[in-house]
Amino acid sequence: MTQIPHYLVIGSGIAGLFFALKASEHGYVTIVTKDAVDNAATTYAQGGIAAALGTWDNPQKHFEDTLIAGAGLCDEKAVEILVHEGVRCVEELIDLGMPFTRGKDGKLHFGREGGHNESRVLHDHDHTGRSVESFLLKKIYAKKNIRILTKHCVVELASEHHLKERGNSTVVFGAYILDVLSGKIHLEKADFTVLASGGAGRVYPVTTNPPVSTGDGIALAYRAGCRIRNMEFFQFHPTALALKGKNPPGTPAFLITEAMRGEGAILKNPKTNRAFMVDYHEMRELAPRDIVARAIDAELKRDGLDYVYLDISHKDASFVREHFPLIYGTLKEKYNIDITQEPIPVVPAVHYTCGGVLVDYEGKTDLENLYAIGEVASTGVHGGNRLASNSLLEGLVFAARAAKHIVRAASDTKINSYRKTAQNLGEWDHTNTKNPEEWVLVSHDFKEIRSLMWDYVGIVRSTLRLERALRRLDVIYGEIIDFYNRTVISLDLLELRNLALVAQLTIRSALKRKESRGLHFMTDYPEHREPSRADTIIEPRHFPGKKHYG
Ligand code: SIN
Repeated sequence: MTQIPHYLVIGSGIAGLFFALKASEHGYVTIVTKDAVDNAATTYAQGGIAAALGTWDNPQKHFEDTLIAGAGLCDEKAVEILVHEGVRCVEELIDLGMPFTRGKDGKLHFGREGGHNESRVLHDHDHTGRSVESFLLKKIYAKKNIRILTKHCVVELASEHHLKERGNSTVVFGAYILDVLSGKIHLEKADFTVLASGGAGRVYPVTTNPPVSTGDGIALAYRAGCRIRNMEFFQFHPTALALKGKNPPGTPAFLITEAMRGEGAILKNPKTNRAFMVDYHEMRELAPRDIVARAIDAELKRDGLDYVYLDISHKDASFVREHFPLIYGTLKEKYNIDITQEPIPVVPAVHYTCGGVLVDYEGKTDLENLYAIGEVASTGVHGGNRLASNSLLEGLVFAARAAKHIVRAASDTKINSYRKTAQNLGEWDHTNTKNPEEWVLVSHDFKEIRSLMWDYVGIVRSTLRLERALRRLDVIYGEIIDFYNRTVISLDLLELRNLALVAQLTIRSALKRKESRGLHFMTDYPEHREPSRADTIIEPRHFPGKKHYG
């Protein structure tokens, strides 16, 4: 009998939605998301999607810019795939009707961002992510065979660990999922499970990422037995609005898109009013992101500043309002800053997780039937520093590739055999857990993890700071796991456990890289870039014989 495959997609940003649309042509799709369906990092992306579609451009130039930004660590084959197939994916979006900004002549408008030697960033004004997300969601809602579970969070991937007769733990059969509102956990079986759960920016206190970006997918995959790659490369966006306590804690740092520098905005030291990027790189404001963020950090530290200025007030006011309506409106209404008249106070903020779950060119992880796409994955395209506006592109390209690969691999024989094995999976076991009595002991850990990541594992690092951070983290993590094993599961607890694990993986990776490269800058090895340095891989630990494990 012909079997219709069931796909479980964890996450609802650009990668998850694009995958779901493609996979729904061949089977049933369930999308699981922790909060509202559009509460994904994608929604917060401003700048756009890079693709060599201009007549002045070509994929080879995009390839070269990506490699330079990546600081010698990109996987060249993955980048080839990205820049060539990216053109086709973006054309597909255009054909489907995605409303990219066009000039008065009706032609697409291409923005320019840091590290790009050509104008190649397609965008919808300064709210591209929001537009792409709602555009894809409309398509998803029109599909009868896509089901969306909002306010549901994955507790654990269901693998052979969970079989009554234990196997060797290489196949994933879906996931155990917490209904956040009712507190119930159910087993969602699937023939293919796809992690599209985004990054882990929330491991730091100052980030442009939404509160959902707690690295869940990386932690789930690692605990299930996947390798994790290049976690030391957390990207700081150079220009987030410097706020000084004007928003409630947990609010994402408001991004000031790099496209503004592409349109001529200048970084200035508020003390001297001097445009300082000339001291740091020949591309000045449009140097790769790691360089601009470190330059700002150096100005802040040298002059004891709380922020630097980003100034676009020299440009025509109507041009600024038309190109940056989201930023203009938000800053005027919420913060009383008129960007057509005055400079914007900015600081670097954590923005993107360049490392993640190690995958091949089809998004396959180390475990059978488990895929990872988008920010959660490490495809190798970003190397030591992601080129601006390559992230939405990566989400599209590798979602399409994973869908194609899975559809080809899904034979009836295989699906029948997985389903037979999956019959032996047990339901979630709550034995010996109780409601928390001393939550404060653990809620404190959120703050402690974030502040030690900021102070010891920030833009500038040293072996001494990293070792100190790891010692602290090991203690905190042990406490969290002890609490987790005794306590009824909740969303906060799952996120805390994931965040702590991701922080540990980040520090362990950072300690392994004894050089400065891209986003990873070590004071012990300031100029030192080893010619043949390879990726940093963290091998998984297996935890046989336990229902709950760390
Ligand atoms: C931005 O608009 O500056 C962010 C774009 C990106 O992170 O690629």
